[in-house]
Amino acid sequence: MRLRDKTALITGAGSGIGRAIALEFAREGAKVLVAELNEAAGQAVVDEIGAAGGEARLQRCDVAKEAEVQAAIQAAVDAFGRLDIMVNNAGVGRSDWDTTLAINLSGVYYGCKHAAETMAAQGGGSIINLASVLGLVGVGSSEVDPYVAAKHGVVGLTRNFAITYAARGVRVNCLNPGFIETPMTREISENAAMRPHIERQTPMGRWGKPEEVAKAALFLASDDSSFVTGAPLIVDGGWTAH
Ligand SMILES: NC(=O)c1ccc[n+]([C@@H]2O[C@H](COP(=O)([O-])OP(=O)(O)OC[C@H]3O[C@@H](n4cnc5c(N)ncnc54)[C@H](O)[C@@H]3O)[C@@H](O)[C@H]2O)c1
Repeated sequence: MRLRDKTALITGAGSGIGRAIALEFAREGAKVLVAELNEAAGQAVVDEIGAAGGEARLQRCDVAKEAEVQAAIQAAVDAFGRLDIMVNNAGVGRSDWDTTLAINLSGVYYGCKHAAETMAAQGGGSIINLASVLGLVGVGSSEVDPYVAAKHGVVGLTRNFAITYAARGVRVNCLNPGFIETPMTREISENAAMRPHIERQTPMGRWGKPEEVAKAALFLASDDSSFVTGAPLIVDGGWTAH
């Protein structure tokens, strides 16, 4: 088990990619704090981990509120004694500017800020931010202006936090998934015209699965990535290779 004796906090772990990361980390031996706005969805993941013999707890958390992110980190430390891994995953897809920036960018900032200090004080840790391929390129659709801006911001924050905390043992990286089948993308993945359009744009010819992003998160969380910091890790079936 690659995360034995480690503890992890995952925001938005009640669904999609966050859920897959929580299950993967628990299978690899980590104790998991599920931080969710949707308490029922979060509790279902906690129960799933418990039923498989793992250890997890739920903390209700709106990542757009700094005090709630801070409280979730404290809850992980109170429950498990320390925080080794922080995954800033919670996010929204298409929404208005203020909502998208508050959740997808400010939420990640609060998570980095408070987790990095907690980890530095205990001698180190790994922070993983969910960016996107839309944190690296635009797509020319005004509907996703807020999303693209927030995700580019996440890549920038990742680099800056990585430099600030490198000497204190905290690694900060981000994941840049392409099109992954989750509730967030259901509107597109179940659209008869859009689904094949995405497949044609993706050199591997298919959508990704949340579990495939979770495997990349496991690499960044574990000591296998001990010399990796400030890095965007693209998981997109070749979408950005064009
Ligand atoms: N699905 C994709 O194709 C894709 C691609 C690239 C990046 N991402 C990113 O991955 C992350 C997860 O996306 P997903 O597809 O699993 O989405 P999802 O909608 O399936 O899950 C998101 C979860 O975040 C929670 N959440 C939303 N707002 C919150 C808040 N304010 N505080 C706490 N929790 C909140 C939701 O309750 C939900 O459980 C997001 O940051 C998303 O932008 C997704």
